Amino acid sequence: MPHLLLVDDDPEALEWLSEFAKAEGFTVSQADSLRAARIHMSRLQPDVLLTDLQLPDGKGVELVADLEQRESTEVVMITGHASVESVVEALRLGASDYLVKPVDMERLKSILRRVPRTGELRAEIGELRDELRKLGRFGHILGSSAPMQKLYDQLGRVAPTSATVLLTGESGTGKELAAQTLHDLSRRKKAPFLPLNCGAVSPQLIESELFGHEKGSFTGADRQHKGYFERAHGGTLFLDEITEMPQELQVKLLRVLETGTFTRVGTTTPISTDVRVLAATNRSPEGAVADGKLREDLYHRLNVFPITMPPLRERATDIELLAEHFLEILNKQESAAKSFAPATVAALYAHSWPGNVRELKNYVQRAFILADDVIDSNLAPTVVTQQESAPLLSVRVGTTLDDVSRRLIEATLAECGSKRKAADMLGISLKTLYNRLAAYKTETGEERDAA
Ligand SMILES: Nc1ncnc2c1ncn2[C@@H]1O[C@H](COP(=O)(O)OP(=O)(O)OP(=O)(O)O)[C@@H](O)[C@H]1O
Ligand SMILES: [Mg+2]
Repeated sequence: MPHLLLVDDDPEALEWLSEFAKAEGFTVSQADSLRAARIHMSRLQPDVLLTDLQLPDGKGVELVADLEQRESTEVVMITGHASVESVVEALRLGASDYLVKPVDMERLKSILRRVPRTGELRAEIGELRDELRKLGRFGHILGSSAPMQKLYDQLGRVAPTSATVLLTGESGTGKELAAQTLHDLSRRKKAPFLPLNCGAVSPQLIESELFGHEKGSFTGADRQHKGYFERAHGGTLFLDEITEMPQELQVKLLRVLETGTFTRVGTTTPISTDVRVLAATNRSPEGAVADGKLREDLYHRLNVFPITMPPLRERATDIELLAEHFLEILNKQESAAKSFAPATVAALYAHSWPGNVRELKNYVQRAFILADDVIDSNLAPTVVTQQESAPLLSVRVGTTLDDVSRRLIEATLAECGSKRKAADMLGISLKTLYNRLAAYKTETGEERDAA
């Protein structure tokens, strides 16, 4: 039987939590202070440590440091109030989940049912990481460069917990792939992984998409609808382009993250939910906070465990590995044996891959179709991506570099019509493009003011 150590200074809470855990098949020891808990722990290492955060002689999280075999005990914190700081602190210090008082029985039950598996999962992930490291991949994520090794470490560490993860990185760096990997390596893997692109749903509909609605709650709501939070129960919700979520809804999302409950549109009955939230953005989240696009409180709550996906140009050694991998898949699919000419491989290294892995994957697909047996240097990435028909930009010697880049940016933007495409084509991040455009605007304003 798995063993659970329960630490709380409220005798009533100790009693009912203890009954509850016993009914779930645990043997239980109780402690009402850090001191008492340490005595228990020195005798028997618990499989689960369920502890109140505020105790008479200190904070429950301090016990994490006293666990001899940290890996084999799951730590679940109970916090008195759902303050962002306390939850974030608990998860950072190694808790794999948390509960908010008054403790929701359904949530406690689902945590206790999952928890004993987490230790095994950690061991499995550790082995997987070592194994795959040699092969230069982690799940479906490929790459053996140093930045990717660091990424695998972070993913492996946070995957088995319920911590919220904020994934940042340029377009095409694999944020969604990383989110899926976090889900696959967690004890939630059998429950759904639901991605929702917050930028793609109309602001009017996104609330009912997330939380569902009751029949008749608004015009057109002709039947009850279950939202993402309900459908992802026990699983993972991936909120892509989180900075595009309307502000009012960011407030509601924060409340769900803090209380573990939500209400359907048109009702007031709270429904408890056991969903892990992963979020992503290709903007700088700090920049989005500064621009008023992302609420600061939500940002802190999401940023429990930030992960940045490295751009492809910063991990040159992976370019060839990825290109060969994508080519191999196509060769298998089409029963072909096409290969890259050495000059093409050199060109792959020279290209800056503004669209990152997505661009590389698309490039290999195009080159595969166009090539006979050998992908020659006439099919090198610059040739494929640069359009012959694109307008020319002529500059006179004597023009400053600043002027050239400004004119190039403006011309590219006019040609593409979309900031994201323009940023990709220029090989800069969307954020950089926004910054430049903002700077040009103020410059122009200043020139006008000065005139
Ligand atoms: N390291 C990688 N190994 C293998 N495939 C990858 C890797 N990174 C990205 N990909 C592939 O590249 C494509 C783009 O990845 P993904 O959609 O995860 O990017 P993203 O960061 O979410 O981009 P965006 O910000 O534009 O949404 C996908 O087909 C994905 O499978
Ligand atoms: Mg994406």
